[in-house]
Amino acid sequence: MQQETELQQQARIRHEVEENLVQLFAPEDEALRTTITATKEAGLPAIHINPLQGKLLQVLAAACNAQKILEIGSLAGYSGIWLARALPPTGRLITLEVSPAHAEVVQRSFEQAGVADRAEVRVGSAHESLPQLVDQAPFDLVFIDADKPSYPHYLDWAIRLSRPGSIIVADNCIRAGQALSESALDDQGAAGLYQYNLQTLKHPRLRAIALAMDEDYTDGFNIAVVLPEA
Ligand code: DHB
Ligand code: MG
Repeated sequence: MQQETELQQQARIRHEVEENLVQLFAPEDEALRTTITATKEAGLPAIHINPLQGKLLQVLAAACNAQKILEIGSLAGYSGIWLARALPPTGRLITLEVSPAHAEVVQRSFEQAGVADRAEVRVGSAHESLPQLVDQAPFDLVFIDADKPSYPHYLDWAIRLSRPGSIIVADNCIRAGQALSESALDDQGAAGLYQYNLQTLKHPRLRAIALAMDEDYTDGFNIAVVLPEA
């Protein structure tokens, strides 16, 4: 019992620290809150990133002087709003979404957040959309948050569409440890995430880290910087 109380106390403190961090560094405005409501109303799963992850994307966008951002997997546009707001007025976010119904929610989210002038949602399979983006490359920041088995393929494209100094971020690269070891290999999603992590570590043009940063500290981003060619 004593043990359980201590665990509960730790959980409460973690939760309070998280709330304070969000309030100080990444408060959500009406548009972001409305997008979360729209996510639920459209029957989409509430698997959007959290506000601190949104703010981290903005800091990373600043670090690579992002003018062009590519997102693979839009969900309802929550992360897209954070990303678009990191851009100058002349910047461009292209977000790829496989579901036409979801893309409509995304478009409305961008409009009500006032970023529709710089954020474009492209409907279709990312496997088909990515090769069509070669003319618009390089992208300064790429954010991957889509179907997990395809992550290794999306990483190949992210590198191809980047420049030295570009930053490639992928969500869900820890998965309570399932994305960190061979044991992942019986689960297609986890296997894709594990391969993704390995690829970021082995690739001569990447320097990468994965960090736990969700509410219960069991999942988070893989962040990789594209290095100059040797
Ligand atoms: C799932 C997908 C996500 O991108 C996420 O952040 C959490 C969960 C999922 O498919 O279960
Ligand atoms: Mg995700």
